Amino acid sequence: MKLRKMTLNINGADRMFICDPEKDTLAAVIRRLGLTGTKVGCGTGVCGACSLILNGKVIRSCTKKIKTVEEYSSVITIEGIGTPMHPHPLQYAMVHLGAVQCGFCSPGFIVSAYALLQENPNPTREEVRDWFQKNRNVCRCTGYKQIVDAVMSAAEIMRGEKTLADITYDYKKDVGNYYGKPIVRPNAMAKACGVCDYGDDITLKMPAETLHVWLVMPRVANHAKILKIDYSEAEKMPGVVKVITAKDVDGANHLMMFQFSPRTIAMDQVHKLLVDETIVNYGNVVAMVVADTKDHAKEAADKVKVEIEQLPEYMNYLDAVMPDAMRIHPNMENIYTWQPLYKGDSDNVPEMIDDAEYMVEGSFYSSREPHMSIEGDTIQAYYDEDGLLTVQCKAMTTYFDRDDIAQAVGLDVEQIRVVENPTGGSFGWAMNAASYSLAAIACKVMQAPIALSMDYAQFMAFSGKRPPSYTNGRLACDKDGKIIAGEFDAGMDHGYDPALGDDEVIKIPRFMFFPYYVPHALGLARTAVTNHSHGVPYRGYGAPNAYTAGEALIDMMAEKIGMDPFDFRYKNIARPGQTNINSAEFLQYPMEEMMDKMKPLYDKAVAEAKAKDTPEKRRGVGLAWGGYNVGLGSDDFANVAIELVGDGKFMKYDTWQDQGQGGDQGSLVCMLEALKPYFPNVTPDDIKLLQADTKYCPNTGESAGSRSHFANGKASILAAQNLANAMRKEDSTYRTYDEMIKEGIPTRYEGNWVAEAEWDCYRFLDPNTGQGNPTYAYTYALFMAEVEVNVATGKTTVLGMTCVDWVGKVGNIQAVNGQAFGGMSHAIGFALSENYEDVKKHTNMFAAGIPYIKDVPDKIEAIHLDGFDKNGPFGSSGASEAFQSSDHVAVVNAINNACGVRIYEIPATPAKVKAGLDILAKGGKIEPPKKYYLGPDFIDELQKIKANPV
Ligand code: FES
Ligand code: FES
Repeated sequence: MKLRKMTLNINGADRMFICDPEKDTLAAVIRRLGLTGTKVGCGTGVCGACSLILNGKVIRSCTKKIKTVEEYSSVITIEGIGTPMHPHPLQYAMVHLGAVQCGFCSPGFIVSAYALLQENPNPTREEVRDWFQKNRNVCRCTGYKQIVDAVMSAAEIMRGEKTLADITYDYKKDVGNYYGKPIVRPNAMAKACGVCDYGDDITLKMPAETLHVWLVMPRVANHAKILKIDYSEAEKMPGVVKVITAKDVDGANHLMMFQFSPRTIAMDQVHKLLVDETIVNYGNVVAMVVADTKDHAKEAADKVKVEIEQLPEYMNYLDAVMPDAMRIHPNMENIYTWQPLYKGDSDNVPEMIDDAEYMVEGSFYSSREPHMSIEGDTIQAYYDEDGLLTVQCKAMTTYFDRDDIAQAVGLDVEQIRVVENPTGGSFGWAMNAASYSLAAIACKVMQAPIALSMDYAQFMAFSGKRPPSYTNGRLACDKDGKIIAGEFDAGMDHGYDPALGDDEVIKIPRFMFFPYYVPHALGLARTAVTNHSHGVPYRGYGAPNAYTAGEALIDMMAEKIGMDPFDFRYKNIARPGQTNINSAEFLQYPMEEMMDKMKPLYDKAVAEAKAKDTPEKRRGVGLAWGGYNVGLGSDDFANVAIELVGDGKFMKYDTWQDQGQGGDQGSLVCMLEALKPYFPNVTPDDIKLLQADTKYCPNTGESAGSRSHFANGKASILAAQNLANAMRKEDSTYRTYDEMIKEGIPTRYEGNWVAEAEWDCYRFLDPNTGQGNPTYAYTYALFMAEVEVNVATGKTTVLGMTCVDWVGKVGNIQAVNGQAFGGMSHAIGFALSENYEDVKKHTNMFAAGIPYIKDVPDKIEAIHLDGFDKNGPFGSSGASEAFQSSDHVAVVNAINNACGVRIYEIPATPAKVKAGLDILAKGGKIEPPKKYYLGPDFIDELQKIKANPV
């Protein structure tokens, strides 16, 4: 290896270093110098996380070879722009205006904006957006609006037109009145200044003895018998310490499998971590190479040779359920769970629909959406000072991950510790503990600290995706436009791992036709395993699959009747006392008020679309009703602890895993409010947080299902109460910290909340009927999309997204807005471009269709109804999943409104829209896809289910 001595002027100082001119990128060099504020996300030049300024120009340093950088060049990194003690106005504005969520993209955006403001101190919003588009800065969390707000405000401050105080929420003036206010994320400034260490940054700073693990992921087939794996060459490669295979694993070498529905047939423990007999998916791992450096491990992994015998690949539900399809897992049928839905006179629904005045039907595909967090997957594992096998990762559910890891490696759970690293986003994929378990296996086998990280292509292949589904649906109305009955048959593709597939599929019969009043309904939802990526949670978790069909049918019916889609919805939303599709009452009925709020905005948007519609650029407006349940129903629980650590000073412990959504901010807000009745002067500065570490924090459950604020809030109330009771003296004043210590009274108290103690709700729908109320709270959301369709190309541009929502009482306005804007930006991608079908092609964010800033409108708005959930903590319900429930269908409906093209199978790519336009231009009619074959006839299946109750 021939190395080079080089000097660059970095952040104003000459820095000398030694590099490998052939291998090193500028990003690698900068990060080795300790300047880890420059993040590497995609590593292929498509996300801008690694942006820095080289000789005055913004560049993406992950693809800039160091040998192409001239000696003594000037480099500005995020660390040179400002520090937490002295932040630049850009950093300050990003933090205070809610533009930092997971923060992984933030340094790249700030560096990029810094260069823009040097060049153009007074940009327009569109110029800012153009700049980020040109420099490929991608944010997956925020929906971009708050980032542009921050740049505009920073520019005003720099021009002397505003001060920092003008954009600061002065919480000292608001003591006792914090709920709903924009309290900033405690970790936001560290993220904005590039000093927050994420997984790969932590790896770089680990002790020199740390070993590096690279996954051997052959990526040769989606389904194959393994005939031979030859590691001999890999083992001889420089720096290699060991190649770990399945036979080295003492534990179960697979993830746990919970059966949620009694109607699920026995599921095998099929999610193997290191496969040795059969490959069931492209991202399967056959071994792990352990070496002294990451490069050595990677180079050796490339030398592993795998011989296979190809088996039939079932890459979607339709293929996997064909009668002649072989079993993907030997011990289970491909279709493994069923959830029926009967409401009203369900036996007669087919005839009712056949005989109705109006009937619409269609077949709809809800696609396989990749999460595409900018940070991929990265883990460290080591034995801590107490001998606990410690796994630092992107855990979304630290305690369940601990269980998974323990089983996989063959240790007791008490011997495992799971810690969540600062996390560069996940949106749900990080619920799966496969990579955490692999890291733990490597650590246990090697009895040494290890670091495991994947490149982005591996991450895309390895991580789970939103499970796609196919639905045949019908809807019937009477002559007055009142819905009389609905029917659906849905099949969900859960990839090669059935785990959670029987939980997620239940969302289809829960959110089909939500929140309308449908007196009679009949439906079936089933799940199958396939050879594609395993299904994992993603914001909305199963509900978008329902809305893809349901909200399209609603729009189609309005069109058929000749009613405005708004009016048709208004006529059919459930009113107080009317039941949902599960024959239970809605917990609230804010629907009419929400539609009233949307009405003037809708009228304005329709008028504008009409005025600006041209034969070349068609304009349209689309609506979709959405919503989601909060929490896990009667099974839910949460524990938090609060400790008095000084007079008026507290330490809170919980596992509200912060994936970027604001777990720290939410936890702080909940505890401020919980302590308020006893200590009304407590401020955000008085509470420190210790979060997401199983060694110190009680189990608050998973950061999923829109449950965190609700469950943590409930537990916080109990913890605060318990502490206050312990501190209270006979005269009703409170003991000081010193008095507590002197009297030997414990200073730490837990709050343990159990849902079933409060509510008579279920965990699931009735597996025989689909009836019941399996939730304690809801979020309701109504979306409107404004689009323009280019007739020549078929390309759809979303010009505006509006959401009117009901989340109970807003706990933190920035966090709720962040979820709303972020959710809508994902929904635009889901509707128009995102896909993970082609495992060989969709290997990075660009190829898989991530929305860049110009794909998301600057006109993006969330209007929160002033609600109050009487069940919820402090009046709140939950505020996440609903924001990515049906908004994609609003876009699809808007396309239809614009140009008459109904897209039945998303994404609505330019090619599909253009094909539809061509049919219309020739006077043809766009037909839905042929009715899908989803397995044995659904009426027969329903009869079988009725005859065999569980
Ligand atoms: S562009 Fe460099 S990390 Fe994505
Ligand atoms: S805050 Fe931008 S990617 Fe997370």
